Amino acid sequence: MLKGKRILLIVAGGIAAFKSLELIRRLRERGASVRCVLTESGAKFVTPLSLQALSEDRVYSDMFSLTDESEMGHIQLSRDADLLVVAPATADIMARMASGMADDLAATVLLATDKPVLAAPAMNVRMWTHAATVANVQTLKQRGVHFVGPNDGAMACNEFGPGRMSEPSEIADAIEGLLVPAAAERPLAGKRAVVTSGPTREAIDPVRYISNHSSGKQGHAIASALAALGADVTLVSGPVAIADPVGVATVHVDSADQMLAACLAAGRIDLAVCAAAVADWKAARPAGSKIKKKAGAPPPGIELAPNPDILATLSKPGPQRPALVVGFAAETENLVANAIDKRQRKGCDWIVANDVSPAVGTFGSERNTVHLVSASGVEDWPTLTKGEVAMRLAGRIALHFGLPPKAEAAE
Ligand code: CTP
Repeated sequence: MLKGKRILLIVAGGIAAFKSLELIRRLRERGASVRCVLTESGAKFVTPLSLQALSEDRVYSDMFSLTDESEMGHIQLSRDADLLVVAPATADIMARMASGMADDLAATVLLATDKPVLAAPAMNVRMWTHAATVANVQTLKQRGVHFVGPNDGAMACNEFGPGRMSEPSEIADAIEGLLVPAAAERPLAGKRAVVTSGPTREAIDPVRYISNHSSGKQGHAIASALAALGADVTLVSGPVAIADPVGVATVHVDSADQMLAACLAAGRIDLAVCAAAVADWKAARPAGSKIKKKAGAPPPGIELAPNPDILATLSKPGPQRPALVVGFAAETENLVANAIDKRQRKGCDWIVANDVSPAVGTFGSERNTVHLVSASGVEDWPTLTKGEVAMRLAGRIALHFGLPPKAEAAE
């Protein structure tokens, strides 16, 4: 997808710099060429030699190197790329970007460029939530800098929370999201889509909830893929640890009721893809305060009530029904038979059936083996990454709308 694209990767000084090495590999696998700028503090974490070996290009660090300036000045360096990617984007480099400083080659290149910039922040959770960083990120967003991440998770500093740099494959997907639409024909331009993703969280009391293991990776990848083909996408996401996709309007919700309301609030849409793992039941009467243990008393019974079925609701016939509604069937046995039955029961057009039995275990993994069930039969797809499943599904959707099959080039 990135064939012929030129990425200028700016590696700043953070422990996540090691992931930038992997990012170079992922980008080159997708056909991009990568040229690196390494800051002085970045060089404390990765060596110029590693970057050079992986990018198969020279690495730029020195602002005042006469050779660099005669061969390629910083202005040309900043423009001789389709996209500048700052990964890791440390608190320091974002502060320098926000204040327009040009105190080293990386900052100068970022100030001089006329190309889009994508930042993948990485820092300690307190640094990320500090008012100074929040303000800098806000400023950069207002100036058009794109962001991917950070994710929630365990950090090298033994703390937990937002601040972990997105995984290399997520950054590569974000790069594709930014660069591919410009090159492709955007066959879904003008189509409005809603995608649900992730788990839902159903409150039992203010501190406890019912939920499941969904990572949101597949749903988020579908939202990205549809946006990459030009669709105007609203992603309605339950609580997940992964970043909002670039170029997609993301609405964050907790419960199934909120997820349904957000889907309906999106208004008239052409297509819906329900990839969320919606909890089937919620507590009928969530307690207003924390349920306390009482000595000698039996465990409290939790009365459950059914959640609304979002897929079935969106599939209901009527003038508001999207032209195409796609559901997922996560099954542990009789995969295809259950999916065929589910398609009819829910009234949707297609079901993407995936095996979530413990032996296959797709929750949280990068790969997925699915079958596409429609009125015309069952297609077995090979095992693909979740990004590939998403691109293939988006291609099928473009074809369904009678648009050029170019979108299926990914197959
Ligand atoms: N779904 C939904 N709202 C619900 C339950 C499920 O929108 N309340 C959607 C999911 O997003 C998915 C499809 O329905 O697209 C099937 O989900 P799945 O959990 O496999 O099916 P269930 O309806 O829960 O059926 P069962 O648990 O009996 O297999």
